Amino acid sequence: MTHEPPTLVPSDSKQSFLNDVIDGLSATPKTLPSKYFYDEAGSALFDRITELDVYYPTRTERGIMRTHIREMAEAVGSDSVLIEYGSGSSEKTRLLLDALPNLTAYIPIDISAEHLAATTRRLRMAYPNLVISPIAADYTRPLVIPDDPVQRRKRVVYFPGSTIGNFTPEEARQFLRQISAVIGMGGGLLLGIDRKKDRDVLERAYDDPEGVTAAFNMNLLKRLNRELGADFDLDAFSHEAVYNAEMSRVEMHLVSIGKQTVHVNGEAFTFHAGESIHTENSFKFDVSDAVELAASAGLELVHEWTDANEWFSVLYFACAKRL
Ligand code: AVJ
Repeated sequence: MTHEPPTLVPSDSKQSFLNDVIDGLSATPKTLPSKYFYDEAGSALFDRITELDVYYPTRTERGIMRTHIREMAEAVGSDSVLIEYGSGSSEKTRLLLDALPNLTAYIPIDISAEHLAATTRRLRMAYPNLVISPIAADYTRPLVIPDDPVQRRKRVVYFPGSTIGNFTPEEARQFLRQISAVIGMGGGLLLGIDRKKDRDVLERAYDDPEGVTAAFNMNLLKRLNRELGADFDLDAFSHEAVYNAEMSRVEMHLVSIGKQTVHVNGEAFTFHAGESIHTENSFKFDVSDAVELAASAGLELVHEWTDANEWFSVLYFACAKRL
């Protein structure tokens, strides 16, 4: 059997990366979009984060999936098309693939083309009978998934890991509307959400003692230096993670230790001592928050699965309304 290489969504990615960086560093307070964490090194660092003891979301979500995989597979449907947004290493997805041997196709979408290609190669060895059609794309931008012309199978989007928490509530609403359009009436969404919980547990999860999360955060500056010719001194910034309870989000920052000036593409950016670049929001949800967000996109809750601590939930929504 021959395989197509990943569909690469044509983009002006280098130019939009530069624009986003210049915009973010020109803003007050300074920000950088968290989607740029995931170059090859960043994706590998994220995989290491998911194995840390203090980083509970991955293993908690995996535990929920293991326990309830039968019900989840039934909700997804045996011959559906499974579309994963931000597939990364597709580790948790294997539970679904194992439980759904007759899927029509699996479509992993990831912003990191290298990571996606490597994952697809591994999956094709493990699931030789599964049609896998990877798409390398920034799924925060509008995306058309080619229709299968013969069988119009049910489409289900899998969006695990509480990655939805990286969006602002307004972005999340828009994104969910986009998903509704992709799956259509009768389609489904299997969504992982990280729940609100103790500050200590949350802050430890984003500031591990081994410094893997700090390296993940700092990798963004390395990437700016390498890809955009910036001159960030990595030793002049420190990693910080704080739970902003009022906004229900963990924030990651890179804080300038002293006063300094950094250059990106010929533009100078000055930092005062203690000034931060806000690099990530990771919103935390009650189930009712997620239900409300989804309702604004025509999605209705059908199932909720959680763990004993109620630290994480996996929700299955059906697209019940044309918007
Ligand atoms: C992949 C976005 C779900 O927010 O927990 C992990 C990314 N950042 N540690 C998260 C992340 C720092 C992660 N998501």
